[in-house]
Amino acid sequence: MRKWLIEELICPQCLDSDIVLHPDIHTETEDDIIEGHLVCPQCRQVYEIHEGIAVVVPEQTLPMIRDTTGYNSFSMLSSYLWSHYSEFFNGPDATDAYQKWARAFGSQRPGWALDIGCSVGRLTFEMTKIHDRAVGLDTSISFVRAARRLAARKRLEFDLIMEGQITEQRACELDSAFDFDRTEFIVADAMALPFRSRRFATVCSVNILEKVPDPLLHLAEANRVMDEKEARFLFSDPFSWDESVNNPNLWLGGTQEGPFKGFGMDNICRLLQDPESVFSPGFTIQDKGQVLWKIRKTSNLWEHITSQFVVAERTAMG
Ligand SMILES: C[S@@+](CC[C@H](N)C(=O)[O-])C[C@H]1O[C@@H](n2cnc3c(N)ncnc32)[C@H](O)[C@@H]1O
Repeated sequence: MRKWLIEELICPQCLDSDIVLHPDIHTETEDDIIEGHLVCPQCRQVYEIHEGIAVVVPEQTLPMIRDTTGYNSFSMLSSYLWSHYSEFFNGPDATDAYQKWARAFGSQRPGWALDIGCSVGRLTFEMTKIHDRAVGLDTSISFVRAARRLAARKRLEFDLIMEGQITEQRACELDSAFDFDRTEFIVADAMALPFRSRRFATVCSVNILEKVPDPLLHLAEANRVMDEKEARFLFSDPFSWDESVNNPNLWLGGTQEGPFKGFGMDNICRLLQDPESVFSPGFTIQDKGQVLWKIRKTSNLWEHITSQFVVAERTAMG
């Protein structure tokens, strides 16, 4: 874990913005902690750093990150590396979805950016083009390991699933404008962000809302870590609500009754503009639309997804 991140990390259980975690370093390089711990001076909880990867999640999230299926599986890694980087190895079917989301960040702005549910890091790297630093977080250790490896090697090499256990190697250079040295990736939970409040100039939540047990808590946490005066929020989601992932009582759309009845995007826009909601102070909507996104499972199995996005800004002028 990059040493520059230490001063920003708080305990995801206490979520006390004034108390940063204390590093206990066992192995290090000039810039990185390779093995060690981060300790909460308040509740004494210990968070591990192993092979450079910091795991800063509340205890109840640990079973999820230890699960070797789902987002930690080999097949998901192949799918998401293809999805994020296929443009760079000139796949004829490559998706340009991430270019489109990246364009939504707009122009250069000082400060740090956060990519919540970053997967294998494409948008995090994109954000280094216009921010001082970019941090990606995900509950998948496999994705975070892959993103860190990309940042270290500054190129992509991986095994792409063709069919079943048959794979082919793909390798390529990435965008030379990515500033790999100004990124870091950690294992963390979107519902308990281990960062000091108001730390980030830009936050993105792309295709994760429907995947978390408590979507409103995720948005409240995203808001907590965004600057109170000047902030930009990129939100995107397919709103494919699924009862096996989260309780319909907690969905932010897709229901006929309740506080979030109706369509997800309408409700998100309403929340963003309502200063009494989880987004306080409120935001102004800058842009809205949809991105056609693809995930490739095997040579013959593709998922085509429409992700609806909104870009919102909070400015000092109000
Ligand atoms: C549908 S994928 C989208 C990934 C990426 N944002 C993209 O658009 O390519 C959802 C991501 O959220 C991550 N995720 C799921 N639950 C999470 C949580 N509670 N906290 C952080 N990440 C989570 C998954 O591991 C996965 O990488």
